[in-house]
Amino acid sequence: MRFEINAKIVLNFILLVHVGLAIFDLRFLILPWIFIIGNLWTLYTKPLGGQWVPAKIDKIRRMLKMTDIRSGEVLYDLGSGDGRIVAEAARLYKTKAIGVEIDPIRVLISRLKLKFKKLDKYAKIKHANLFNVNLKDADVVTMYLLPKTVNQLKSKFKEELKRGTRIVSLQFPLKNWKPVKVDKENKIFVYRI
Ligand SMILES: C[S@@+](CC[C@H](N)C(=O)[O-])C[C@H]1O[C@@H](n2cnc3c(N)ncnc32)[C@H](O)[C@@H]1O
Repeated sequence: MRFEINAKIVLNFILLVHVGLAIFDLRFLILPWIFIIGNLWTLYTKPLGGQWVPAKIDKIRRMLKMTDIRSGEVLYDLGSGDGRIVAEAARLYKTKAIGVEIDPIRVLISRLKLKFKKLDKYAKIKHANLFNVNLKDADVVTMYLLPKTVNQLKSKFKEELKRGTRIVSLQFPLKNWKPVKVDKENKIFVYRI
């Protein structure tokens, strides 16, 4: 007799273990759902520009260093997630850092983080669609977004950014634009308007 494992058996097994464990401790019932819903939640911003995937701190430090950012300059992080780029820019360089984020939950988390770290004097989070925020006062623009989105932004950059503004993209280059600096290992591309 052949024993076939199909999706229905696997699902029933998982459900049984799930409910069985929940009888002993309610956390087993609640925590997996928080995990599943939390992960699904990140997907909703994917069609808007990119889903939430946090950049590694060492890459963020490298990105900021490559832009030669100075104290008092204005930095925008387009799609700021949990606010880690603006927090690092404010903490290390005392820049006026502005994160733009569309997901209200990440906005709330990042604002709380900045307050808790006492960086809210330098760094702020705007709850907005990054395509609708004017960037004319930016000295540095950072982004970690989908390839389609970074390329859609090129006309906005040309229209709004002043001469000398540095743009740094993590992971994806801007098609047909010549970077002034590249870190191939970390996939960091720096452009100057
Ligand atoms: C890959 S994550 C990068 C987060 C953060 N910059 C970092 O490096 O850790 C992309 C972020 O962009 C946000 N996002 C996507 N589309 C957006 C849009 N149209 N306007 C504002 N934020 C957007 C997502 O919600 C997500 O938090």
